[in-house]
This record gives sequence, C-alpha cells and structure tokens, in this order.
Amino acid sequence: MNGRVTASESRSERRPSRQINVVLRSASPPLVSTAVPERDPVPSPSPLPQHGLFQEIQKELDQLVGLDQIKELVYEIYALLQVAQMRSEIGLLSGGHVFHMIFKGNPGTGKTTVARIIAKLFQKMGVLNKGHLIEVERADLVGEYIGHTAQKTRDLVKKAIGGILFIDEAYSLARGGEKDFGKEAIDTLVKAMEDHKNQFILILAGYSDEIDFFMCSNPGLHSRFPIQMDFPDYNMDQLIQISELMAKERDYILMPQSMMKLREHLQVEKESQLHAFSNARYVRNLIEKSIRNQAVRLLNQYVAGNPSKLELMTLRPEDFKLVGKQ
Ligand SMILES: Nc1ncnc2c1ncn2[C@@H]1O[C@H](COP(=O)(O)OP(=O)(O)OP(=O)(O)O)[C@@H](O)[C@H]1O
Ligand SMILES: [Mg+2]
Repeated sequence: MNGRVTASESRSERRPSRQINVVLRSASPPLVSTAVPERDPVPSPSPLPQHGLFQEIQKELDQLVGLDQIKELVYEIYALLQVAQMRSEIGLLSGGHVFHMIFKGNPGTGKTTVARIIAKLFQKMGVLNKGHLIEVERADLVGEYIGHTAQKTRDLVKKAIGGILFIDEAYSLARGGEKDFGKEAIDTLVKAMEDHKNQFILILAGYSDEIDFFMCSNPGLHSRFPIQMDFPDYNMDQLIQISELMAKERDYILMPQSMMKLREHLQVEKESQLHAFSNARYVRNLIEKSIRNQAVRLLNQYVAGNPSKLELMTLRPEDFKLVGKQ
C-alpha cells in the first residue's frame, strides 16, 4: 500500500494487527499504544486537509436505506485513517492495520454496494492506489486440476492489487472438504494475504451461518479478518422506501395504490420465501419489470399522440403484475 497512512509501516508491523479490531468496534478512545507518554507535549497536527473528502462517501451512504451500523463502521474506518495520517505526520506509529473484512448477510442486502463505497474510501484516503473492486465467486477461483486453482487464484489476486478482492459465497470454497480444490484456493488466498500485505483488501461475503462454518475450516482465517459487518434483511418499511428511491432514481413515481399493492406482495414474498428472498434486489427487479410493463401499456394506450410527462413518470398498480417470484 502506498500513501501517508502507512508511512511508518515497518515499525508498526511488529505490533499485533488485532488492535485494529478494538479501534473499529469500540466507541471508546482507541487503545492503540503510542510511542509518546501522555504528559509529553504533542505538536499540533496540520489541519484536516481531507475532511471534506468524506462528504462524497457520505452522500453515497445516505442514498442507502437503513444499514445504520454499517454506515457507522464506515465512518469509524474513515476516522481511523484520518487520525493515522495525523499520527504519522508527527512521527507516531500509524500503519500496519488489517482491513480484510467479512460481510455477512442474505442476498440483496447491499453487500456489493457497500464494498464499492469502501473501495472508494480507501482509494481516496491513499490506502489503495486504484480502489477498484474485483468481484468473484468459487468458479472464478477454483480450477479443474492440481495446481490450476492456485494459478487462477493468484491471477485474480494480481488483478486485485491496489483494490479490493470481493469473494461472494465464500463458504463454498470450504464446501468440498479436504480433497476439494476449494481448499487450495483458501490456502493460496491466505498466502497471498501475507505476500501482498496491505496491497489489496480481501472481503469475504456470504450468509451468516455459512460464513461461520467457513471460518472454522482454516484456523488461520479468523484472526485475518478483524472487521465483520452484518447486513440485516430489510423490513417492510425499508423495502417500500427502497422501491420509492429506485423509482425516483429512474425519474418515475409510484401511485399510492401501486405502493399498497407492492407492500402486500412483498409481505407475502418475504414471509413465504424466507432464505431465498433477495431483499433490495427483488425490489429492483420488480421496479424494472413494472417500468417495462408501463412502456407497453403506454404504447398500446397512445396509438396517436404522446403521453403527458406525468403519465410517462407514473407507475400505476396495473404495471405491477405481481405473480410469484420476480
Ligand atoms: N439499503 C439500500 N438502499 C437502497 N438500495 C439498496 C440498498 N441495499 C441494496 N440496494 C440495491 O439493491 C441491489 C442489490 O444490492 P447488492 O448487489 O449490493 O446486494 P448484495 O448483498 O451484494 O446481494 P448478493 O448477496 O445477492 O450479491 C442494488 O441495486 C443496490 O443498489
Ligand atoms: Mg453481491
């Protein structure tokens, strides 16, 4: 990694990375030890040149409904990076933090979206020089013969250098047990985390219990992922808010009757599918489908002449043809 945040990396590497966990999870002052005793005068740090930097990230986070704890954690990471920079500028230990993360949550709960925002944050703060996100799953990592998996995994790590490697459904790597090539992928990843320390951030994502099972598959894994984020399922009000937001982003509006129809449908779907219900993604698919239905309705309705601006924007209840899974 480059940038000022890690300027005193070589010194700080000797400190246990576990400390970051305390910093990120606690509202109390950081427990990171400092080289200077408290009574020593501390030179005043330079002003916060990047303080406005968080505004852009904040704006993106604000567009997400709910996820309060995630938003708080992202701010904690920002605060830590900012303070690390100030500490580094006056010669205090500041680097060596481990930022590999686990994202636990059901489909469509915002994991990929948040990973992208975090990638941007790290890039802006100079922790990652590119800040891109490479999103992969088991098939991208696991090969067909001995040695193939290690090569595939190493190639992907190489692509992720300077950014984030995001592994969805990470538990599936541990699925086949000892003889499965998934194990080779895990071993290669663990090695890459050592070889390319601080050059990329690894995020593993999946359902909560499956991720817990995965973490037990290799004793070295737990300590390597000090940051855990839980992505809860959205409740009904949040799902409705998300639909309104998604419609608005696309310059559409939902009639109150459409909203009621949607609410009733989502209630049934959420209760009947439980695990398979894909939260905000399900809502997005519904909205996009209703937009297509509206287009067909308008074309049929307006054989001659054009619909008004309001008609072009309005998603009516009949545009939501809600039967079964979307
Ligand atoms: N809190 C939210 N507010 C608004 N939109 C959201 C929110 N969470 C997710 N979305 C939207 O829902 C869609 C799915 O989100 P995303 O791909 O981030 O979910 P995911 O958890 O990665 O899903 P999967 O586990 O299936 O990969 C995206 O279009 C995203 O913008
Ligand atoms: Mg995803």
